[in-house]
Amino acid sequence: MWEYTDKVKDHFLNPRNVGVIEDADGIGEVGSLSCGDALKLTFKVGENEKIIDAKFQTFGCASAIASSSALTEIIRGLTVDDAAKVTNDYIAKYLGDLPKEKMHCSVMGRDALEKAIAHYRGIPYQKPEGEIVCECFGVTDLEINRAITENSLTSVEDVTDFVKAGGGCGNCVEKIQEIIDTMQGKERSEKKKPQKMTNIQKIKLIEEILEQEIKPVLKKDGGNIELIDLDENTIYVKLRGACANCMTSQVTIKNFIENKIKELVSPELNVKEVKRETTHIC
Ligand code: FES
Repeated sequence: MWEYTDKVKDHFLNPRNVGVIEDADGIGEVGSLSCGDALKLTFKVGENEKIIDAKFQTFGCASAIASSSALTEIIRGLTVDDAAKVTNDYIAKYLGDLPKEKMHCSVMGRDALEKAIAHYRGIPYQKPEGEIVCECFGVTDLEINRAITENSLTSVEDVTDFVKAGGGCGNCVEKIQEIIDTMQGKERSEKKKPQKMTNIQKIKLIEEILEQEIKPVLKKDGGNIELIDLDENTIYVKLRGACANCMTSQVTIKNFIENKIKELVSPELNVKEVKRETTHIC
């Protein structure tokens, strides 16, 4: 018996936005009935590339229904560019978390969203090609690599929870373990020895990374960022311009800004936004 949060139960029992938009601008279909889960996401885009409607049809368990329902609620009102930043982890967090064995449902939602956005933009959906590792579920090595990297997975069971590979006959388990071992070995050898830095050195480096790597990206969308303080390993920032008060600012902070800082300054650092008064959708 899975432990579900109240929000998962609510979205399962009262799913939002069920159905298909007939004249949809974006359509994304993933999964197959033979694998047990399938999802069709459709959305409609209005002025300024904002998603004004999103609907889903799914075949799957309670978590698949809840994840799909949550996904449509998350992307309604976002621009297509902001919707493209929604990750599987964000869907799970929106629901107050999913049982780890059910994380593949959030991955299916993310895949359907990527596919629907590619359809809207008129570009072919780039499913990572790679080599099939799991015949039962048609999962490639590149998909496994992505799941490991994005979700810091460390065991075959984790991989099965996120992308289903290894959850059938078990023939691919050894190969999945090899991929994990290779990636962990690579990570270890690539990891530079953390340099001991003074606070002044850290602040200088953070400011440099903000100027060179982060601000130019935010400015493209009319946003900006200001460093407010550094307290031990917590960096406090304020988002400015179009990023201020944006509903997806937490996604930007965690998935883009914090990742960059961890990668280029120190993996120990985390980024927090200084409390905002109001929230709106930009
Ligand atoms: S080949 Fe992966 S579970 Fe069967």
